[in-house]
Amino acid sequence: MRGCIKEIVYGVLSRLSYPRQDGKEAVVTGGSRGIGLEIVNNLLQCGYNVVIGSSSSEASRTALRDSLSKKYPGCSVEVWHLDLASMKSVKDFADHYLSTKSACHLLINNAGIMFVKEERTVDGYEKHFSVNYLGHCLLTQLLLPHLAKSSCKENHSRIVNCTSCIHFVGSKDVTDFQNQKYYSKYKAYIDSKLAQVMFTSSLQTYLDRNNLNVKVNCVHPGVVDTDLMNSVLLIPRLGSIFFKSAEEGAHTATHVALSPQMEHVGGKYLEECRVVSSSKISEDKCLQMELWERTWKALHPWLSENGYNFINVSDKPAR
Ligand SMILES: NC(=O)c1ccc[n+]([C@@H]2O[C@H](COP(=O)([O-])OP(=O)(O)OC[C@H]3O[C@@H](n4cnc5c(N)ncnc54)[C@H](OP(=O)(O)O)[C@@H]3O)[C@@H](O)[C@H]2O)c1
Repeated sequence: MRGCIKEIVYGVLSRLSYPRQDGKEAVVTGGSRGIGLEIVNNLLQCGYNVVIGSSSSEASRTALRDSLSKKYPGCSVEVWHLDLASMKSVKDFADHYLSTKSACHLLINNAGIMFVKEERTVDGYEKHFSVNYLGHCLLTQLLLPHLAKSSCKENHSRIVNCTSCIHFVGSKDVTDFQNQKYYSKYKAYIDSKLAQVMFTSSLQTYLDRNNLNVKVNCVHPGVVDTDLMNSVLLIPRLGSIFFKSAEEGAHTATHVALSPQMEHVGGKYLEECRVVSSSKISEDKCLQMELWERTWKALHPWLSENGYNFINVSDKPAR
């Protein structure tokens, strides 16, 4: 209880101290509801222009854009179609972004699904792995040129990956992209969240080696009362009593995105707005390297066109 009060007070105080970021550009996946929508609210309050990626219908996207535009009259909010279960959709989203926007200062990879029934995507990937992990890797890679050119040494662009503390129970099978050995919806979700933590560390190594002024971190939002919990038995009824609100769940991602304290922090895992250790498996450099290599090999079909081959598959983090 005391920890919870401390976290709320800390969250409120740090939000009050976020500097204005007028005119900066952010992309938030899954910004249509839950934690993502609260992150979007926080960014708009600080003067960011935001593009939200959402897989919902055109009517829902238009309604969301209209209500946010009304709430934050000085800011630009757009809600574009993005289905992270289709790499073509991710590429179309990124292509549209690159051709219509000249900058990107912040990318928040927040969208997620949990414990959905076994399903292969159009590209043949297990659905949790595609939506939570692979689609975000591709989006990150495609937007990286914009993130890099929108930054400087004193003002890094930032990437925030929304993972979960559940990654602590993840297994070394994380490189089994297709979940072919045996399928469990729990394992599929956990593996995708563990992969995000490992990718965060590898990506920061890559960014540093290439002298790119971009920082990437990953966060656990806490246990939060959102639609995501509908897939867990009994939780929907109890969530509002025991869990954080979506607004509270957005604190750590917002802190990583906006706080001056995070300017030089990269490759880390945060809980309750603080850097903490991630799981032992997630820190295993050999496993990280294997995942990194397999990720870019899997995504190669969507990387080789249009000169977007920004990440060289052979330029992997050191063992
Ligand atoms: N809630 C928790 O307790 C908790 C705990 C740990 C980690 N997390 C992580 O926090 C993040 C946000 O979760 P949440 O609780 O806010 O979930 P949520 O309320 O269920 O929202 C999920 C978001 O993901 C988007 N999304 C789902 N499928 C998509 C797809 N195929 N393509 C693009 N977007 C898609 C949804 O937007 P559309 O439906 O509009 O596409 C929605 O905005 C997730 O990554 C989750 O794993 C949550």
